[in-house]
Amino acid sequence: MINVVRGMRDIFGTEMHAWHRAEKVFREVSEKFGYQEFRTPIVEHTELFSRGVGQETDIVGKEMYTFMDRGDESLTLRPEMTAPIVRATIEHSLLRHSPITRLWYAGPLFRYERPQKGRYRQFHQYGAECLGSPNPESDTECIMLANEVLREIGVTKYELQINSLGTTEVRAKYRSVLVEYLTKHKESLCADSVRRLDTNPLRVLDSKDPADQSVIVNAPVLLDMLDEESAMHFSTVKALLDSAGIAYKVNTNLVRGLDYYSHTVFEFVTDELGSQNAICGGGRYDPLFEILGGTNVPAVGFSFGIERVLMLLETEQGAPKPLSTVDVYLCAAGDEARLPIQLLALRLRRNGISCVTDIARRSMKGQMKEADRLSAKFTATLGQTELDMENIIVKNMSTGEQKTISIHQLESELKVLPV
Ligand code: HAM
Repeated sequence: MINVVRGMRDIFGTEMHAWHRAEKVFREVSEKFGYQEFRTPIVEHTELFSRGVGQETDIVGKEMYTFMDRGDESLTLRPEMTAPIVRATIEHSLLRHSPITRLWYAGPLFRYERPQKGRYRQFHQYGAECLGSPNPESDTECIMLANEVLREIGVTKYELQINSLGTTEVRAKYRSVLVEYLTKHKESLCADSVRRLDTNPLRVLDSKDPADQSVIVNAPVLLDMLDEESAMHFSTVKALLDSAGIAYKVNTNLVRGLDYYSHTVFEFVTDELGSQNAICGGGRYDPLFEILGGTNVPAVGFSFGIERVLMLLETEQGAPKPLSTVDVYLCAAGDEARLPIQLLALRLRRNGISCVTDIARRSMKGQMKEADRLSAKFTATLGQTELDMENIIVKNMSTGEQKTISIHQLESELKVLPV
């Protein structure tokens, strides 16, 4: 018996219907905002992430699926999508033709994390990146897009948290003030935070450890150290959100786990999913294009975990309801009708009607049962009499109404019968 890999999941049945509904929302809402879909390969050069996401981050330090291929190149299954999108934008000179480029994506990501509820080793993100604008209205455009997608999907129990990390210079200054403060309280910090003190001290602010919390509450606040321009940027973001009626909370400890951020960062969090409470994360990442060898291009974006959003939807609305995917189940009442129903099925499909036929050579009773199991909206039955008369018996499965009609009228009949 070979099982699915730990931390990875099969998606099927009614859960798949929930995915299809969500995927429709991603496409439709993104397009309403003028974002184009972009697909990158699942595998990239390892260096893209070690440089782009940052050597000292958890993702690069301990979570990547990295391997040498047969040509001795170090490749990595993508753990996130922003670095690949920036790589592709530079590679195809997209900004030369379109100085503001708006892209969206959805697909699988891989992180070797400890699996738990809402945390997988293969998971999926939907996200969007707005490339080329340094202005706060592009930050809020992204937040609004994420918010609209969540609204359209139907989740409500989440909170938007925002913060500003300022410029690289501000962060460097803050880092030394923070390290000085945390070092003074080193003996109260957990082992993980002590390690982060040397590698990535801002991440200590993210710690959920109760002992760390008592140190963090009195830590110096980055927002208080922002330069004038960064403070202006952040207050415009807040004003825009206020006027759009989008509620948010400023969380001064929100630092995000990836190194490329500057200025606005944000997360959509929920209390409904236990410890994996972030359903969406994003922010401005002005340094990334230069880090990856491009020119200086300001950019902002977000991604959300599709599994987590669908889990939240389920806690709010219950298990996904099955969708009927079959318009008609074609039954053969007798062997003479077995081949004719195959040809009729092809005709219906070509005319836009989804249909399934009996290929198990079941009895009439067995075929009706199967139609029911598939939640077919109609059955249509052919037997010798119907073949002779060029008729067919149509049954509406929800009302039970049944009638014999000309086989030539089947398509129009199926469209007019109440569903
Ligand atoms: P991230 O915060 O690492 O950001 O991931 C975004 C979202 O992906 C999380 O809020 C969470 O919902 C989901 N997620 C992350 N890891 C897992 C996991 N192991 N299992 C299930 N869901 C997970 C980024 O990836 C950035 N690229 C976001 C971004 C886009 N920033 C700017 N543009």
